[in-house]
Amino acid sequence: MQTFEKDILSQNEKSWNALAEDFFGVTALPILGCSIPTEDELKLFPDLSGKSVFEMGCGSGHSLKWCAEHGAKELFGLDISEQQLLTAKKLLNESGYSCTLFHQPMEDNTNIPQNYFDVVYSVYAIGWSTDIEKTIKNAASYLKSDGIYIFSWDHPLLHCVDLESVAISGGNRTVATEDRIVFSGNYLEEDYYTFEKIGNPLTLQNRKVSTYINALADAGFAVERVVEETSEKVLAKSSEFSSGYYADFKAKHFPLSIVFKARKL
Ligand SMILES: C[S@@+](CC[C@H](N)C(=O)[O-])C[C@H]1O[C@@H](n2cnc3c(N)ncnc32)[C@H](O)[C@@H]1O
Repeated sequence: MQTFEKDILSQNEKSWNALAEDFFGVTALPILGCSIPTEDELKLFPDLSGKSVFEMGCGSGHSLKWCAEHGAKELFGLDISEQQLLTAKKLLNESGYSCTLFHQPMEDNTNIPQNYFDVVYSVYAIGWSTDIEKTIKNAASYLKSDGIYIFSWDHPLLHCVDLESVAISGGNRTVATEDRIVFSGNYLEEDYYTFEKIGNPLTLQNRKVSTYINALADAGFAVERVVEETSEKVLAKSSEFSSGYYADFKAKHFPLSIVFKARKL
């Protein structure tokens, strides 16, 4: 791993340690993303009864708990943040479930069982990887043949657009305003960018849909499903303008999150 990527991981690790409390159970199954149908509706996961599951970027452990409640026999998780892992261990133990947790980045496959799991998944974590090809190859190596890999993240279009309220003039006065989504970014650019969450710097890359699909193909997966949908609930809301990065107004025009389901060949 290059020093640049190491520095990003170390900065993100510190920030996720500081953010752990604010992200307690925030993005966890059955939720797979923002304003998209839930796993209860999508039914992407196979029957988990007696299955071994592994979450890459397990955060506070709420998704692992959901897997246990759906019959999973063995719970494994990995996260870069020790603080998140402490929270996950506490949550799972207090719920009566045992788990095996690894404190390491998803780019690193040290000590993780190979050809072992029925299901490997990530709920809103894969985007933090500094090496998507390696991370997806790691996922493939953990799965048994025919095993299922599911991951969700921001839809790449989300990073490319902004909201704008434009004044419509009639004569010499404004008669109305029109709310628009403007394409202000560059879909082709996969460079790193840094932003702040509650004062903590985080760095990641926006990736094209094809980057994920090609990485899956190169790692020996067959893609079974790609979900690009907005939930019925959000679509049925009044079409009032709403602001914010994950605004409903945007969700009515394109999916804010994307989910991939693949099978190891
Ligand atoms: C939005 S949270 C995921 C929440 C999780 N799905 C749950 O059920 O609680 C994203 C997680 O990714 C972790 N993360 C960030 N970069 C990572 C990396 N390179 N490798 C592993 N985990 C990482 C963060 O520490 C954080 O816990």
